[in-house]
Amino acid sequence: MRLQGSLLAGGFCALMRLCAQSPSVVCAGARGERAEAVWDRSRAALGSAPGRSLHHAIFREVMAAEGLRNKPCGGRYGDIVRSIGNTPLVELPRLSPKPGVHIWAKLESRNPTGSVKDRVARALIEDAEEKGAISPGQTILEPTSGNTGISLAMICSRKGYPVKVVMPENVTRERTQLLEMYGAQIVYSEGSKGSNGAVEKALEMAEKDSSYYMPYQYGNPANPEAHYNGTALEILEELDEVSAFVAGLGTGGTLMGNGRRLKETFGDAVKIVAAEPMQGEPVQGLRSLDDGFIPPIIDISLLDRKIFVTNADAITWTRKLLDEEGIFAGVSSGAIARVASRIAGELDEGNVVFIVADDGWKYLSSGIYTRPLEEIENLDSTVWW
Ligand SMILES: Cc1ncc(COP(=O)(O)O)c(C=O)c1O
Repeated sequence: MRLQGSLLAGGFCALMRLCAQSPSVVCAGARGERAEAVWDRSRAALGSAPGRSLHHAIFREVMAAEGLRNKPCGGRYGDIVRSIGNTPLVELPRLSPKPGVHIWAKLESRNPTGSVKDRVARALIEDAEEKGAISPGQTILEPTSGNTGISLAMICSRKGYPVKVVMPENVTRERTQLLEMYGAQIVYSEGSKGSNGAVEKALEMAEKDSSYYMPYQYGNPANPEAHYNGTALEILEELDEVSAFVAGLGTGGTLMGNGRRLKETFGDAVKIVAAEPMQGEPVQGLRSLDDGFIPPIIDISLLDRKIFVTNADAITWTRKLLDEEGIFAGVSSGAIARVASRIAGELDEGNVVFIVADDGWKYLSSGIYTRPLEEIENLDSTVWW
């Protein structure tokens, strides 16, 4: 079981670190027991047991004292692709409006290429491999506003598949650089058409050339399944109750996969909420269903609510995440945090979980993290593309 593996690796590393720290360091164990107390108690019980066996024995003791909630080493993996997922869930107390309501950020930005799409890209490729649809050497073609392409490029570079991505010509420079860095070839689509234009162009290319394999995240069940079998299980590992789950709507994979698993667990007690950009106000990575394209993987009946966010709100909240909670996130996460906070305001108690879809590195050149808020709020939204 994954949990046991990561606890073991994480626990032992933590223990080694604790042993090296000063006795005043407090271990964040679930019972809040001080590390030094566990250490002293264990030493007394074990007498003079030598070296590593002493560490193992104390490790078992620490685990028996309910373990190290932070799993500080983050697990041990055979390669970078296997390390995808297992992301932290971080409480944001300054953004929570009431003491009984807890807002939690699931930091998908902590994946190897910095976005939630690492999970999806791995699932898309491994699903195709399992079905015998691809083998190394075959070119993978995918329309993407950036993150999925970056994830596919990294994973395929490890597995031996050339990658061609189709994306709007006006995405930030960092995205292009990251794709080039992982060896992907880029085909640009018309910027004004956004991600719909990229989908259109990639479908045309795939139709003309059958040697491409297009995973097509918008219609591939492996996309929501990556969340159903990954993200959602990790959230359930940490929380016994979830009142609301909030995510952005791009392909819909995050909302569908997590939504299905959380509804199966909590029934209608959990509300699945989509953050959507206002029509004509593009937020990188997100789409409005009113734009006319509903990705085939989306089952709208699974959504309890969709809440519109303006581009100015998305930016303001991206800054709030940074300034008030130290979370360096992309602009879609600002939009999602805005909605999470609104939902939290409607509750008297409970947990609200929202997805931090990517980190801020790819948006640095836009200046949103450093320029005065009044200046960036008033800028035309297309600047963020
Ligand atoms: C930055 C960002 N946020 C949110 C999303 C939405 O995720 P999903 O495609 O699962 O709906 C994406 C998808 O590309 C994204 O890149």
